[in-house]
Amino acid sequence: MKVEEYLKNYIKSKSSLEHAFCVKNLSLKIYEDLKKIFPDNPLLDFENAHTLIETSALLHDIGAFFGGVTALKPHNKTGAKLVFENKIDGFEENELKVVCASIRYHRGSKPKEGKHRLFSSLEQKDKNKVLVISSVLRLSDALDKLHMQSVRDIILTYDFDSSALTLNPGINIMFNRGIKRVFNKKKTLFEEVFKLKICLKNDRF
Ligand SMILES: [Fe+2]
Repeated sequence: MKVEEYLKNYIKSKSSLEHAFCVKNLSLKIYEDLKKIFPDNPLLDFENAHTLIETSALLHDIGAFFGGVTALKPHNKTGAKLVFENKIDGFEENELKVVCASIRYHRGSKPKEGKHRLFSSLEQKDKNKVLVISSVLRLSDALDKLHMQSVRDIILTYDFDSSALTLNPGINIMFNRGIKRVFNKKKTLFEEVFKLKICLKNDRF
């Protein structure tokens, strides 16, 4: 199935569609800023990175429209299964697995070696892609937690002395305390993967 077909068939509201595109744009921007800050980090250097990030982001909530509200909790697992079964036109088997695992880990438990079959079946280089993509998705998803696209133009900066990244969200987060709380909860995988601290801070207000 094509990505556009997934969106057309399974995303049932305008706000959810806008959320998918917002998460896509934020994820690509975070990836681009990371590449500029850490040009030699091997984790960020992989083939088709843009396509894999973009597709995982657009499809990350695709499983949220099955079985009503009660299905919302494991929608990451539902979405990964749906995409794995229906494949993605033009994607190789390993690329499909990377996208499915990234959808799977955009929320909930972190990848567990041995315990999680799909993740365990991947080669190390593909496991790394999943860690990068899913950890970035968690940040972007938190930034658009309210599905209102209030965060649009983030900038990442890095302080080499303290090994800390700052994500400037371009809006006054004092008015969006919920975003900060969710961001702090969802950032832990990112901090583990990149071995650094990240905080959400706005110095423009
Ligand atoms: Fe989401």
